Amino acid sequence: MTDVAAKDSLTVTDNRTGQTYDIAITDNTIAAKDLGQIRLDEDQPGLATYDPGFVNTASCRSSVTYIDGDKGILEYRGYPIEQLAEKSNFLEVAYLLIHGELPTKEQYDAWVHEITYHTFVHENVKSFMQGFRYDAHPMGMLMASVGALSTFYPDARNISDADNRHMQIVRMIAKMPTLGAWAFRHAQGKPYVYPDNDLGYTANFLSMLFKMSESKFEADERLVKALDVLFILHADHEQNCSTNAVRSVGSSQVDPYSAVSAGVGALYGPLHGGANEAVLRMLKRIGSKENIPAFIDGVKDGNERLMGFGHRVYKNYDPRAKIIKKSAEDVFEVTGTNPLLDIALELEKIALEDEYFVKRKLYPNVDFYSGLIYEAFQFPPEMFTVLFAIGRTPGWLAQWAELVQDKDQKIARPKQIYTGDRELTFTPAAERWS
Ligand code: CMC
Repeated sequence: MTDVAAKDSLTVTDNRTGQTYDIAITDNTIAAKDLGQIRLDEDQPGLATYDPGFVNTASCRSSVTYIDGDKGILEYRGYPIEQLAEKSNFLEVAYLLIHGELPTKEQYDAWVHEITYHTFVHENVKSFMQGFRYDAHPMGMLMASVGALSTFYPDARNISDADNRHMQIVRMIAKMPTLGAWAFRHAQGKPYVYPDNDLGYTANFLSMLFKMSESKFEADERLVKALDVLFILHADHEQNCSTNAVRSVGSSQVDPYSAVSAGVGALYGPLHGGANEAVLRMLKRIGSKENIPAFIDGVKDGNERLMGFGHRVYKNYDPRAKIIKKSAEDVFEVTGTNPLLDIALELEKIALEDEYFVKRKLYPNVDFYSGLIYEAFQFPPEMFTVLFAIGRTPGWLAQWAELVQDKDQKIARPKQIYTGDRELTFTPAAERWS
């Protein structure tokens, strides 16, 4: 029996042996390794937990983002998302995530200068992006090109040096919009547009996306603000699938470009960042309000999934979805309304009253309305997840920097429960096939 304080401990009895163990509870968790002492006999492996999808397993200590899913609370470094979306801007939020506190005026100016200075990419990046097929998905292009940056900055592998880490963090936040915009231009067969460093971060991104022959592209300020807010809303979300991918790959001590490239890959999937693209395709497929009841029946029968609904953590509402709904109104004021909005609103209304969704605590998530806004900007659905990735980059990097400085961390290596054959006898092919 382990000797730990009775109050902050868990006492468990292994009914196979009758043996009782006290296991320490710290921060409302038990250390999984403490279960290892529970074993049938010395030759057997110790007890482990089985947790596909890490539904109830903490993989790290983190001070970046706090979420209370039941209360619908999201805070970056302690600041509520509602306040940041209303009163801050994306680069200030990026600073906050990376550095852990808000910048002074001098720190902010230096940060904006650094990011702006690094928006250009090496000319060779342009050549290899041009090598993609005409119909390449921009997320595939982003994943490949951000990973390829590791070959342009081989010094990035020196992850134990704080100044070096800072350099790569600045480079990546600065260059993601350039890579994302070029992936977009590629699909359209349009020339890639170089960064305009007279513009702010988000305005420059819009310029690289939409500029044609005019000498300067100046987007409507209301659209710049709305996109900036969307970036803020996506900037971090604690241990989600892509952040877990960044941390998992980063735990091998590879350079951050390779780790973030893994994050982009994870985000690409339809259950994660790819959901915004899937929502729009779903709304188009439903086509009109009359078809909603049949669609909902399909969801309840298990033949469909209501994309943009449900969340692993939020079981009440997603605070980001509320802010996005307001941003959607601002954007539609400039662009005119999106006819799919009516279908989305009706779908939301019906779903929120339907027992299937109520019982399972399924509410609209961040992706339910973001696709409608992106479409109003005239982004094709393939671009939606790229926008999510640009917003999420500071979060991935803040989490990566935290990981590499965390003495508790080890290379990620989950256990498995082996279910296959054992100790078979191999017969060479020539004998098996004769
Ligand atoms: N439509 C219909 N049923 C659903 C949905 C949905 N969108 N989401 C969950 N359910 C059902 C699910 O079938 C299950 O029912 P039952 O208990 O009868 O088997 C129950 O609700 C619990 O769902 P789960 O799959 O165990 O929940 P999860 O925590 O593993 O999955 C999720 C979370 C986000 C993957 C899931 O809700 C989903 O697939 N949603 C649609 C995709 C989506 O919008 N993703 C974006 C998430 S927010 C942005 C981001 O962070 O990436």
